Amino acid sequence: MPVKGEVPWDKAPHTDAKHRIYRAYLDKWYPILLSDNGYPSVTYAEGFAGPGVYKDGSAGSPIIAIQALLETPQLAGTEKTTRFVFVDDDPRCVKLLGDELRRRFPDRPRPHGLMPVSVAEGPCSDAFEPALEAVGAWYQPILAVFDSWGNAPVPYRLIRRLAQNPSSEVVVTFMPQHFIRFVSQLSEDTDGVFGHDSSWRAVSDIPDGSKKKAFLLGRYRSMLAEAGFRFLLDFELVTVKGESLYLVFGTNHRRGLEKMKQSVWEVDKVQGIGFRDPKDEYEEALFDLTDPQLEPLERMLVTRLAGAGQIRVENLREWALFSTVYREQHVIPALTKLRNRGQVECDRTRIERAALVRLV
Ligand SMILES: C[S@@+](CC[C@H](N)C(=O)[O-])C[C@H]1O[C@@H](n2cnc3c(N)ncnc32)[C@H](O)[C@@H]1O
Repeated sequence: MPVKGEVPWDKAPHTDAKHRIYRAYLDKWYPILLSDNGYPSVTYAEGFAGPGVYKDGSAGSPIIAIQALLETPQLAGTEKTTRFVFVDDDPRCVKLLGDELRRRFPDRPRPHGLMPVSVAEGPCSDAFEPALEAVGAWYQPILAVFDSWGNAPVPYRLIRRLAQNPSSEVVVTFMPQHFIRFVSQLSEDTDGVFGHDSSWRAVSDIPDGSKKKAFLLGRYRSMLAEAGFRFLLDFELVTVKGESLYLVFGTNHRRGLEKMKQSVWEVDKVQGIGFRDPKDEYEEALFDLTDPQLEPLERMLVTRLAGAGQIRVENLREWALFSTVYREQHVIPALTKLRNRGQVECDRTRIERAALVRLV
């Protein structure tokens, strides 16, 4: 849907955090995928690209994505191809994005053949796939960013095709509030967002607000898994004002999951932005300014260990990677805190990867 207000618009506080995560991830993504042992080409594509600029003059995500490539020293002289595909259905955004790209990159930084940039106007559901076709993106890795206003109108067919394309990944902005608020008015088309499954509508029978959000995220995750993404990561960006935005990431590569987590945890925390693990029922922010908050992980570890007897620390590290927003590296410090409080015991003097732990 075209933007309701003026273009460009004011940048919301959590947009900065989102952009820093994109940038941190792209700083890892380009060099890995385009390494000597990697692929001959990759495509960065956005289905809801925006105008490339905010009211205060700061860069939008399309510009950030190109800057990340150009500022990757390992790729300075590369002969590999990087395609950029940007789609938006608001003609003002398309025009401004074109202007902004020319203003920011007045001299073509790379020959067209090595860096084609395409800007297309139209709804993501109709224009995204043909735009990818036109630049020859399929059968090589695609990082697809679907940063709508949170209603994620992305056809299931497209998500499935991306999941099956080599080394391709998706980042989707998801706002459960949109679906909670409008559940009775949203047509059958909206079932398409959840993989043509109407079970998300049961959200109206759930009385509790945070359980509603968790339920819808769960439905969205199920759709991505069904489409073929093996590893999923979702987290909630929380601003000082208490606004929230969910980012959902799907990949088929463990390394992609590790690098996305690393990016989330790297992002500067002293900006009043926190992250929450949607699976933490206490909805506690993960950062208290500078220190990672391990309490949600400690609670999840206690639940994981309950009734499970003893578990090897390495298995808990794997579990943290695949089933929480925490990194593997957070597990030993969290277990150490639990042991210091007498809640966990260990078969070794130090809690290390090969050790066995259990609840006291
Ligand atoms: C949140 S903004 C994108 C911001 C951008 N990713 C950034 O971070 O700089 C969402 C954009 O999606 C566009 N949009 C909304 N519905 C759309 C649709 N169905 N298809 C394509 N674009 C759409 C809007 O015009 C708007 O520019």
